[in-house]
Amino acid sequence: MKSTLQDLGPRFHGWPKRDIERVLVSETAIKRCVRRLGEQISRDYEGQKIILVSVLKGSVVFMADLLREINIPCAVDFMAVSSYVGSETSGVVRVTMDLRESPEGKNIILVEDIVDTGLTLAYLKKNLLTRRVKSLRVCALLDKPDCHRVPVSLNYMGFSIPNEFVVGYGLDYAERYRSLPHIAVLKREVYKPSSGEERSKSSGG
Ligand code: IMP
Repeated sequence: MKSTLQDLGPRFHGWPKRDIERVLVSETAIKRCVRRLGEQISRDYEGQKIILVSVLKGSVVFMADLLREINIPCAVDFMAVSSYVGSETSGVVRVTMDLRESPEGKNIILVEDIVDTGLTLAYLKKNLLTRRVKSLRVCALLDKPDCHRVPVSLNYMGFSIPNEFVVGYGLDYAERYRSLPHIAVLKREVYKPSSGEERSKSSGG
Protein backbone atom coordinates (compact mmCIF):
# COMPACT_ATOMS: atom_id res chain seq x y z
CA MET A 1 0.00 0.00 0.00
CA LYS A 2 1.45 3.35 -1.09
CA SER A 3 1.24 6.08 1.46
CA THR A 4 2.36 9.59 0.68
CA LEU A 5 0.88 13.02 1.09
CA GLN A 6 1.39 13.70 -2.62
CA ASP A 7 -1.25 11.03 -3.26
CA LEU A 8 -3.86 13.59 -2.27
CA GLY A 9 -3.45 15.00 -5.77
CA PRO A 10 -4.19 18.46 -7.11
CA ARG A 11 -7.96 18.22 -6.52
CA PHE A 12 -7.59 18.46 -2.75
CA HIS A 13 -5.94 21.55 -1.38
CA GLY A 14 -6.65 23.44 1.83
CA TRP A 15 -8.59 21.84 4.66
CA PRO A 16 -8.51 18.16 3.76
CA LYS A 17 -4.81 18.21 2.99
CA ARG A 18 -4.03 20.07 6.22
CA ASP A 19 -5.90 17.50 8.30
CA ILE A 20 -4.58 14.37 6.62
CA GLU A 21 -1.59 12.51 8.01
CA ARG A 22 -1.12 10.17 5.04
CA VAL A 23 -2.97 8.24 2.37
CA LEU A 24 -3.40 4.61 3.33
CA VAL A 25 -5.24 3.22 0.30
CA SER A 26 -5.02 5.03 -3.03
CA GLU A 27 -7.92 5.68 -5.40
CA THR A 28 -6.42 3.23 -7.91
CA ALA A 29 -6.06 0.46 -5.32
CA ILE A 30 -9.69 0.97 -4.21
CA LYS A 31 -10.95 0.76 -7.82
CA ARG A 32 -9.02 -2.47 -8.43
CA CYS A 33 -10.30 -3.95 -5.19
CA VAL A 34 -13.96 -3.03 -5.79
CA ARG A 35 -13.77 -4.61 -9.25
CA ARG A 36 -12.37 -7.83 -7.74
CA LEU A 37 -15.10 -7.92 -5.08
CA GLY A 38 -17.82 -7.32 -7.69
CA GLU A 39 -16.50 -10.13 -9.88
CA GLN A 40 -16.30 -12.48 -6.92
CA ILE A 41 -19.89 -11.73 -5.82
CA SER A 42 -21.20 -12.08 -9.41
CA ARG A 43 -19.51 -15.48 -9.71
CA ASP A 44 -20.69 -16.74 -6.32
CA TYR A 45 -24.33 -15.80 -6.91
CA GLU A 46 -24.57 -16.63 -10.62
CA GLY A 47 -28.19 -17.41 -11.57
CA GLN A 48 -29.53 -15.86 -8.34
CA LYS A 49 -30.78 -12.48 -7.18
CA ILE A 50 -29.16 -10.55 -4.36
CA ILE A 51 -29.92 -7.54 -2.21
CA LEU A 52 -27.05 -5.31 -1.20
CA VAL A 53 -27.77 -3.72 2.16
CA SER A 54 -25.72 -0.62 2.74
CA VAL A 55 -25.08 0.43 6.31
CA LEU A 56 -25.49 4.20 6.28
CA LYS A 57 -23.85 6.50 5.89
CA GLY A 58 -20.22 5.48 5.49
CA SER A 59 -20.76 2.67 3.00
CA VAL A 60 -22.75 4.56 0.34
CA VAL A 61 -19.74 5.42 -1.81
CA PHE A 62 -18.43 1.86 -1.65
CA MET A 63 -21.91 0.44 -2.32
CA ALA A 64 -22.45 2.70 -5.35
CA ASP A 65 -19.18 1.56 -6.91
CA LEU A 66 -19.61 -2.11 -5.95
CA LEU A 67 -23.09 -2.19 -7.46
CA ARG A 68 -21.67 -1.20 -10.82
CA GLU A 69 -19.13 -4.04 -10.74
CA ILE A 70 -21.81 -6.71 -10.18
CA ASN A 71 -23.34 -8.27 -13.27
CA ILE A 72 -26.23 -10.25 -11.79
CA PRO A 73 -29.69 -8.94 -10.73
CA CYS A 74 -29.07 -6.85 -7.69
CA ALA A 75 -31.41 -4.72 -5.56
CA VAL A 76 -30.33 -2.26 -2.91
CA ASP A 77 -31.65 -1.36 0.51
CA PHE A 78 -30.38 0.65 3.44
CA MET A 79 -30.09 0.46 7.20
CA ALA A 80 -28.70 2.97 9.64
CA VAL A 81 -27.32 2.30 13.08
CA SER A 82 -25.71 4.48 15.65
CA SER A 83 -22.90 3.65 18.01
CA TYR A 84 -20.16 6.15 17.25
CA VAL A 85 -19.65 9.53 18.88
CA GLY A 86 -16.85 11.37 17.08
CA SER A 87 -14.03 8.86 16.64
CA GLU A 88 -14.99 6.34 19.33
CA THR A 89 -17.66 3.69 19.62
CA SER A 90 -20.10 3.86 22.51
CA GLY A 91 -20.37 0.06 22.31
CA VAL A 92 -24.16 0.25 22.25
CA VAL A 93 -25.61 -0.30 18.81
CA ARG A 94 -29.17 0.58 17.84
CA VAL A 95 -31.05 0.68 14.54
CA THR A 96 -32.01 4.23 13.58
CA MET A 97 -33.37 3.34 10.13
CA ASP A 98 -34.64 -0.05 9.03
CA LEU A 99 -34.87 -1.76 5.63
CA ARG A 100 -37.66 -0.66 3.28
CA GLU A 101 -38.36 -4.23 2.08
CA SER A 102 -38.59 -7.41 4.12
CA PRO A 103 -35.38 -9.44 3.74
CA GLU A 104 -37.25 -12.71 4.31
CA GLY A 105 -36.29 -15.43 1.83
CA LYS A 106 -33.69 -13.20 0.13
CA ASN A 107 -29.94 -13.43 -0.44
CA ILE A 108 -28.61 -10.52 1.57
CA ILE A 109 -25.13 -9.06 1.34
CA LEU A 110 -24.43 -6.58 4.08
CA VAL A 111 -22.11 -3.88 2.74
CA GLU A 112 -19.94 -2.26 5.39
CA ASP A 113 -17.37 0.47 4.94
CA ILE A 114 -15.20 -0.57 7.87
CA VAL A 115 -15.15 -3.12 10.66
CA ASP A 116 -13.54 -1.83 13.84
CA THR A 117 -14.67 -3.49 17.09
CA GLY A 118 -17.04 -5.72 15.10
CA LEU A 119 -19.94 -4.81 17.41
CA THR A 120 -22.01 -3.13 14.70
CA LEU A 121 -21.58 -6.07 12.37
CA ALA A 122 -22.40 -8.63 15.07
CA TYR A 123 -25.54 -6.71 15.95
CA LEU A 124 -26.66 -6.37 12.33
CA LYS A 125 -26.02 -10.01 11.52
CA LYS A 126 -28.01 -11.12 14.53
CA ASN A 127 -30.80 -8.73 13.62
CA LEU A 128 -31.02 -9.94 9.99
CA LEU A 129 -30.76 -13.62 10.86
CA THR A 130 -33.88 -13.37 13.01
CA ARG A 131 -35.80 -12.31 9.87
CA ARG A 132 -35.52 -15.63 8.04
CA VAL A 133 -33.25 -14.48 5.21
CA LYS A 134 -32.32 -17.10 2.60
CA SER A 135 -28.64 -16.32 3.03
CA LEU A 136 -26.51 -13.66 4.66
CA ARG A 137 -22.99 -12.67 3.74
CA VAL A 138 -20.86 -9.67 4.59
CA CYS A 139 -18.75 -7.51 2.31
CA ALA A 140 -16.50 -4.97 4.03
CA LEU A 141 -14.07 -2.64 2.33
CA LEU A 142 -11.82 -2.20 5.37
CA ASP A 143 -11.09 -4.26 8.43
CA LYS A 144 -9.11 -3.32 11.55
CA PRO A 145 -8.29 -6.78 12.95
CA ASP A 146 -6.41 -5.37 15.95
CA CYS A 147 -9.58 -3.67 17.19
CA HIS A 148 -12.01 -6.58 17.15
CA ARG A 149 -13.85 -7.08 20.45
CA VAL A 150 -15.97 -9.94 19.13
CA PRO A 151 -15.22 -12.65 16.55
CA VAL A 152 -15.55 -11.26 13.02
CA SER A 153 -16.07 -13.28 9.87
CA LEU A 154 -16.10 -11.51 6.51
CA ASN A 155 -17.08 -13.24 3.26
CA TYR A 156 -15.70 -10.48 1.05
CA MET A 157 -13.01 -8.12 2.26
CA GLY A 158 -11.01 -5.30 0.73
CA PHE A 159 -8.13 -4.18 2.92
CA SER A 160 -6.88 -5.07 6.34
CA ILE A 161 -5.65 -1.85 7.96
CA PRO A 162 -3.88 -0.86 11.19
CA ASN A 163 -5.61 0.62 14.21
CA GLU A 164 -5.87 4.22 13.02
CA PHE A 165 -8.81 6.52 12.45
CA VAL A 166 -9.36 6.79 8.71
CA VAL A 167 -11.53 8.98 6.51
CA GLY A 168 -12.42 9.31 2.83
CA TYR A 169 -14.29 7.24 0.24
CA GLY A 170 -17.48 7.71 2.27
CA LEU A 171 -15.91 7.55 5.73
CA ASP A 172 -16.25 10.67 7.83
CA TYR A 173 -15.22 12.38 10.96
CA ALA A 174 -18.02 14.69 12.15
CA GLU A 175 -19.51 14.58 8.61
CA ARG A 176 -16.30 15.76 6.94
CA TYR A 177 -13.85 14.13 4.50
CA ARG A 178 -16.38 11.73 2.93
CA SER A 179 -15.64 13.08 -0.55
CA LEU A 180 -11.94 12.21 -0.54
CA PRO A 181 -11.33 9.60 -3.27
CA HIS A 182 -8.94 7.56 -1.15
CA ILE A 183 -8.69 6.20 2.39
CA ALA A 184 -6.53 8.47 4.52
CA VAL A 185 -5.34 8.59 8.12
CA LEU A 186 -6.66 11.66 9.91
CA LYS A 187 -4.17 13.66 11.96
CA ARG A 188 -4.66 12.81 15.61
CA GLU A 189 -4.96 16.44 16.68
CA VAL A 190 -8.08 16.78 14.48
CA TYR A 191 -10.09 14.30 16.53
CA LYS A 192 -8.22 14.43 19.86
CA PRO A 193 -7.84 18.14 20.62
CA SER A 194 -4.94 18.62 23.05
CA SER A 195 -6.69 21.48 24.89
CA GLY A 196 -8.92 19.00 26.66
CA GLU A 197 -11.81 20.48 24.75
CA GLU A 198 -14.74 18.03 24.62
CA ARG A 199 -15.75 16.56 21.29
CA SER A 200 -19.46 17.06 20.82
CA LYS A 201 -20.12 16.29 17.19
CA SER A 202 -21.47 12.92 16.22
CA SER A 203 -20.14 10.86 13.38
CA GLY A 204 -22.75 10.08 10.78
CA GLY A 205 -21.51 6.46 10.56
P1 IMP B 1 -17.57 -1.14 14.91
O1 IMP B 1 -18.93 -1.43 15.47
O2 IMP B 1 -16.64 -0.69 16.00
O3 IMP B 1 -17.00 -2.28 14.12
O4 IMP B 1 -17.70 0.11 13.99
C1 IMP B 1 -18.18 0.11 12.69
C2 IMP B 1 -18.57 1.51 12.27
O5 IMP B 1 -17.80 2.49 12.97
C3 IMP B 1 -18.26 1.77 10.81
O6 IMP B 1 -19.35 1.41 9.99
C4 IMP B 1 -17.96 3.27 10.80
O7 IMP B 1 -19.16 4.00 10.67
C5 IMP B 1 -17.37 3.55 12.16
N1 IMP B 1 -15.89 3.56 12.15
C6 IMP B 1 -15.05 2.66 12.72
N2 IMP B 1 -13.77 2.98 12.53
C7 IMP B 1 -13.78 4.10 11.77
C8 IMP B 1 -12.74 4.91 11.19
O8 IMP B 1 -11.54 4.66 11.31
N3 IMP B 1 -13.16 5.97 10.48
C9 IMP B 1 -14.47 6.31 10.30
N4 IMP B 1 -15.47 5.57 10.81
C10 IMP B 1 -15.13 4.47 11.54
